[in-house]
Amino acid sequence: MTAASSLFTVFAFFLLLNCRDVRCEDTELRVCHMCRGSLQNNTAVGNFCLFSSDSRVEGRCCLRKTGETLEIIGLDISNCSLNVLENLKEASAAIIIDLSHNPLSNLSDLLFVGFSSLNNVMLPSHLLCPGGNESWHKTEVKGDLRFCDGQRDACNQTGQMSWDCPENSLCAPYGPGFFECACASNFHGYKCLREGEFPVVNVLGILCGSTCLVSLLLWLTQRRKAKDI
Ligand SMILES: *[C@@H]1O[C@H](CO)[C@@H](O)[C@H](O)[C@H]1NC(C)=O
Ligand SMILES: *[C@@H]1O[C@H](CO)[C@@H](O)[C@H](O)[C@H]1NC(C)=O
Ligand SMILES: *[C@@H]1O[C@H](CO)[C@@H](O)[C@H](O)[C@H]1NC(C)=O
Ligand SMILES: *[C@@H]1O[C@H](CO)[C@@H](O)[C@H](O)[C@H]1NC(C)=O
Ligand SMILES: *[C@@H]1O[C@H](CO)[C@@H](O)[C@H](O)[C@H]1NC(C)=O
Repeated sequence: MTAASSLFTVFAFFLLLNCRDVRCEDTELRVCHMCRGSLQNNTAVGNFCLFSSDSRVEGRCCLRKTGETLEIIGLDISNCSLNVLENLKEASAAIIIDLSHNPLSNLSDLLFVGFSSLNNVMLPSHLLCPGGNESWHKTEVKGDLRFCDGQRDACNQTGQMSWDCPENSLCAPYGPGFFECACASNFHGYKCLREGEFPVVNVLGILCGSTCLVSLLLWLTQRRKAKDI
């Protein structure tokens, strides 16, 4: 292995590590290419994309760059002969999703967990809106399409759905019918009982990245030395 190629390996490895959780710009978005063709102008998602600023089309997706990450804000996987749909996590920032004209028999209740920006969903008419009618401001059936429009805030429901988050935490919407209790600023730990800031996730992410990089570098240099002896 030449020095240049080992360096490249290190970088590739490093990139891989960092891309696993955070979406890097060059990571291919598989969900955008799971169906043939690309987003058309005369469709709901296509029009949405056309009138969204800073957006571009990739496959069946409408993408927008937010800070360092490229987000899927619109997804049209209609008319794609889908029988099952198990994972849409890549599209969790989506505002509009079209799943119509697919032979889907049911959808997992958990498919849209975390989709807190979702505002319009189109489904085959026999499927129910994610989270039920009560998770949407307006639901209607037109022909063989069901429309679910305007996601209701699960934290702001009167009547049977009224959620109490533990003290020192705030209820935050987390997709149709879902909510999460996020610790109020300065609180953390189980039930947000401890005060003070400790950004666990960031610290761990960075820690792993640099530790792995250093170990890999060490491993490569040591191996080279061993060979030379
Ligand atoms: C959609 O419309 C835009 C702007 O009018 C145009 O640049 C683009 O080529 C059109 N795309 C398709 C697939 O027709
Ligand atoms: C679905 O796609 C086929 C071609 O692949 C096309 O002929 C048909 O009109 C499409 N149906 C809808 C409802 O868009
Ligand atoms: C969807 O339906 C299939 C069979 O029709 C069943 O095996 C599967 O468990 C169902 N999935 C969910 C999430 O209900
Ligand atoms: C949900 O809304 C649709 C369309 O408005 C309606 O047909 C259906 O009966 C409703 N379902 C429930 C459980 O309220
Ligand atoms: C909560 O619900 C009330 C009544 O439905 C509404 O007026 C208010 O704007 C909602 N608040 C939020 C933050 O959605």
